[in-house]
Amino acid sequence: MRVLVVGSGGREHALVWSLARSPQVKKIYCAPGNAGIAQQAECISLAAEDISALRHFAQEQHIDLTVVGPEAPLAAGIVDEFERHGLRIFGPRQNAAAIESSKVFCKSFLAQHDIPTARFAVFADPEAAKAYVRAQGAPIVVKADGLAAGKGVIVAQTVEEACNAIDRIMTRREFGEAGSRVVVEECLTGQECSLIACTDGVTVVPMVPAQDYKRVFDCDEGPNTGGMGCYSPVPALTDELYETVVEKILKPTVAALAAEGRPYKGALYAGLMLTEEGPKVLEFNCRFGDPETQVILPRLQSDLVDILHAVIDGRLSAVQPQWSSRTAVCVVMASGGYPGSYERGKEIRGLDAVAQMQDVLVFHAGTTSREGKILTNGGRVLGVTALGDGFADTIAKAYEAVCRIHFDGAHYRRDIGRRALGEG
Ligand code: AMP
Ligand code: GLY
Repeated sequence: MRVLVVGSGGREHALVWSLARSPQVKKIYCAPGNAGIAQQAECISLAAEDISALRHFAQEQHIDLTVVGPEAPLAAGIVDEFERHGLRIFGPRQNAAAIESSKVFCKSFLAQHDIPTARFAVFADPEAAKAYVRAQGAPIVVKADGLAAGKGVIVAQTVEEACNAIDRIMTRREFGEAGSRVVVEECLTGQECSLIACTDGVTVVPMVPAQDYKRVFDCDEGPNTGGMGCYSPVPALTDELYETVVEKILKPTVAALAAEGRPYKGALYAGLMLTEEGPKVLEFNCRFGDPETQVILPRLQSDLVDILHAVIDGRLSAVQPQWSSRTAVCVVMASGGYPGSYERGKEIRGLDAVAQMQDVLVFHAGTTSREGKILTNGGRVLGVTALGDGFADTIAKAYEAVCRIHFDGAHYRRDIGRRALGEG
């Protein structure tokens, strides 16, 4: 079987790594990929958003299965385009991907179907949004409606901060058209947890849960990022809470989307806050999470290809993925300055030594190669993942690997996984 993976980050490297383990897979392409992915797949220089070029490539190369990593091509209709040409592709169609690409759609949908989420209001006028913020008081959360590369959400501690966020999003249009409307919502407290399910539009098969660290600095200080690290399983998501999420959130969401004429096929990512009143939806994403995928797929014991095919063919009820009981911890190594501006092109050293370590996987997120050297090429550079028995052992192994890898300006959080030990 010939497979095409679309995207270039750590999530796509984890997908390529997992697909490469399948005896069914003979050849993997990745568009555009990165230096780490290039060790397991043939990278082709087509942008993830260049839907028609990707479709031509899939036709010409007789690709049997395409797997889409990032949200942008899904929101732009890559699945619809491939399906129109009879190509097999894993991911939701454009009208189902709206669950991520429009927060206004997502929140209205959740409210309409009584799926637990933070109280909210939607505004197209900045002054009306600010008046609502003043009436509600802080802390309060302001979200740009559209896709903003994970930067369109501001958890404001003061009314002033929230009003500034409204100006940045709606008046200065820092996220372009994504900021023509905002969602203003109640600030929830509790532990966060991500539960990603595969669904064929009817059956929901959850993967193992993961917890992501969104803030850039230790102890959850500093601005939000795309994710600085992750661990799985999540002790805070007890069996009872897990059941609640599946029965009260994931299954009703999939059923209601189908009833609305937006059948959802693919990976459905629920970003959850485990509040005192129970789990509530912070957001839905229309894809696998990044870095969550880097701790989830290393725990998968079944063949990923079988799951992806079952989703596409609508026979997921026949599949029961097996998961390892081991723990997984992923520490993201980022470029100096990230999530603000940063330089590229720093040489990365130490990767060969770490490649020899047992139970350690280094997924590349933002890397490129030049003259035999691996160089930084993005904000998040590497996702260093360890598998182990229990969190203490796994955390130690992940950081032992991180300490052996060097590049100018590298920074990473030192507290990834500690929450699972009841610390921090
Ligand atoms: P989102 O992209 O909607 O998941 O938001 C990014 C991050 O902002 C989440 O992972 C949370 O840490 C935080 N966040 C979003 N919505 C809320 C909320 N209603 N209350 C508290 N924190 C939130
Ligand atoms: N880790 C959060 C995301 O994938 O959006």
